Amino acid sequence: MTIMVTGGAGFIGSNFILNWLSKNNEQVVNVDKLTYAGNLENLKSIENNSNYIFVKEDILNKEKITELFKDYNPRYIINFAAESHVDRSIHSPDEFIQTNIVGTYSLLESIRNLWVDMPNKEKQNFRFLHVSTDEVYGSLDSTDAAFTETNRYRPNSPYSASKAASDHLVRAYYKTYGIPVLTTNCSNNYGPFQFPEKLIPLVLHNALNGKEIPIYGDGQQIRDWLFVVDHCNAIDAVLKDGKVGEIYNIGGLNEKTNIEIVNILCEILDDLIPKTNALSYKSQIIYVKDRAGHDKRYAINASKIEDDLNWHPTETFETGIKKTVKWYLDNQSWVKNITNGDYLTWVARNYS
Ligand code: NAD
Ligand code: TYD
Repeated sequence: MTIMVTGGAGFIGSNFILNWLSKNNEQVVNVDKLTYAGNLENLKSIENNSNYIFVKEDILNKEKITELFKDYNPRYIINFAAESHVDRSIHSPDEFIQTNIVGTYSLLESIRNLWVDMPNKEKQNFRFLHVSTDEVYGSLDSTDAAFTETNRYRPNSPYSASKAASDHLVRAYYKTYGIPVLTTNCSNNYGPFQFPEKLIPLVLHNALNGKEIPIYGDGQQIRDWLFVVDHCNAIDAVLKDGKVGEIYNIGGLNEKTNIEIVNILCEILDDLIPKTNALSYKSQIIYVKDRAGHDKRYAINASKIEDDLNWHPTETFETGIKKTVKWYLDNQSWVKNITNGDYLTWVARNYS
């Protein structure tokens, strides 16, 4: 049997593949365009695993993707491929519309074409799982109840709007054509292999390099943080027992303000590698202009996946963040390779 992962060279996709192969003896085909965010170094430990296949391809290439579906006949397709950074979406939304909306549409069309001729038994087992975000629900005030699966969609950034549009397409292909889809809407992830443009790895990178640590606005925005491997295990649970056509919210039950997160990271670093000038890393914090349309608070009500699928996060923020900081400290060459351009030069040389 085979599963196919799109966007598996990114942060969550690569964690998902590593986690999957550590538990299952089943072929995984990873289809990734290798944008700036895709990094094959994440998957170095399995590059010689006979159950792992990498294909460099754009999900927008419908013809090629259809061919890959035919060649590998996956029982599951899990779609992680996306442009994922809100700040980039504010500066240049185009790629977000292309990959997140048109790319998801293109994947669904390839599946629809094959679906018609799929034998009944394969039809029963097939699943398309679309990995989405809590940001589609918009922003909460401090006293609002956490997002449930029935919350109205109110996306506020080009990123979240593009993800919302893709979620709607996935739903429509279930309702209209009967494609067996599953959608997960997850809160902010953290952990190994996250590109250092997102808050947690950016803070670690800047702190360690003596650079300023930028806090947008007043730093009082709230995110619900989940360790990435817990997200991967939640996806496994949804694939295995999730009800076709349903949405599952996934969250860390762990709300923190941005300034709290930054302070925790600085304190862990102060402990592990004190600065030579005896100051705290907190001395590098600066407050900068707020992000346009900055969502105030995200919070996930994960009761559905907890009650129906018996999934629960295994890491607390305290354990997960310590593992994460340790990983970044132990993998400084990984950070260096992606931040100094060496990695992109390697991609250009190997995949020109
Ligand atoms: P990422 O940016 O780290 O990785 C995205 C991957 O997709 C990269 O490997 C990139 O090369 C690939 N990709 C981009 N465009 C492609 C295309 N056109 N064709 C093929 N591959 C393409 O993202 P991530 O943080 O791993 O997020 C993965 C998914 O999870 C996204 O859909 C995102 O919306 C969702 N999500 C992320 C978070 C989070 O906190 N990071 C939280 C909830 C949901
Ligand atoms: P980010 O990691 O970009 O995730 P998202 O926008 O998808 O939630 O940002 C997390 C929070 O941290 C968000 O409220 C914006 C804030 N932030 C900063 O204050 N400074 C930064 O340098 C970055 C990258 C983010």
